[in-house]
Amino acid sequence: MRFDQSKKMKKKLFILVSAGCMTLSLLGCGSNSSTSSTSGTSSESTSSDPAQNASASGTINVNTTYGTVIAYAKEGEEIKFKDDFPVQTLQFSGAGGAKYVLEAKPETGKNLKFLRWTKDGAEYSTDAKTTITIDGNAEYYAVFKDMDAENAYDYLVLVNKTHKLPDDWESNVVLEEATNRYGEKYKVEMKALEQFTWLQKELADEGIYIELDSTTRSVAEQQKLWDDWTVEKGEDYVKKYVAVPGYSEHHTGLAIDVCLDKDGKRIDDNDAMIAEREIFAKVHEKLAKYGFILRYLEGKDAETGYSYEPWHFRYIDDPAIAKEIMDKGITLEAYLGETK
Ligand code: DAL
Ligand code: ZN
Repeated sequence: MRFDQSKKMKKKLFILVSAGCMTLSLLGCGSNSSTSSTSGTSSESTSSDPAQNASASGTINVNTTYGTVIAYAKEGEEIKFKDDFPVQTLQFSGAGGAKYVLEAKPETGKNLKFLRWTKDGAEYSTDAKTTITIDGNAEYYAVFKDMDAENAYDYLVLVNKTHKLPDDWESNVVLEEATNRYGEKYKVEMKALEQFTWLQKELADEGIYIELDSTTRSVAEQQKLWDDWTVEKGEDYVKKYVAVPGYSEHHTGLAIDVCLDKDGKRIDDNDAMIAEREIFAKVHEKLAKYGFILRYLEGKDAETGYSYEPWHFRYIDDPAIAKEIMDKGITLEAYLGETK
């Protein structure tokens, strides 16, 4: 099921910072005077623009949870404000316009994923290494997600015609971008994407080429798909193949629709893919090994709510559970005891 995903996904903030570090301090004040040596360093890097230099000084608080931050002057200057510092507030000051680089590093030994920098509570940058400009007081936070924490998402989440996407899902899920052989960019949950890449490689070694064709879709994108397909195919067809916006597994980041690349040609039409039984049988055999299941099985419309989709793979993370589901030929609904 092909779909244009050029529209950038809006990400919500998922802030994992400790509230105890929120206090702003004015220049020269505050309890963290041990970091005052950093002030001297920053003043060496002031802008040559006198107007800018005169305009501002203040305190920049930099903090993170689950990691360390390195802060250093931009443009190759050797002097750092401070070496790696652990979870704490760093204060430094400088004239307006001075630029510095902050680099957030995850704590070793933990299953952490860098998400973003925030500035005064709003998203600032999604790069772990980011440039800031000293232009007055500000608070920067490096936000990591602890993938092993209790609030890490449930890879067995059920989203179907009667189970809506959980409210906090989009703010928690960690997506990564990949480009398929046709140059199209898609976002997929990070572990699902990694495992998909291994699946793809094993199949390619056997001369079978699957490609990302449609992955994570926002509610608005699902609505557009629904509307476009209704015009093209009619409402009856759409109900068999397209979920109502808000109720699509594609919102989770864990669903991947593939297309086939056969003899140098892309096959992405639903009926044409359903006709490729031999190829898909070989693909489906390998899904469980990488933590995927086939979500919409043939003849199980009454349980899943949808027609057979040999192209729609769902990542559930656990290869043993995936194997059980695939070996038994059951739906995710049946495995979770959610059939009516
Ligand atoms: N094709 C599946 C059912 C979806 O639209 O989520
Ligand atoms: Zn799908």
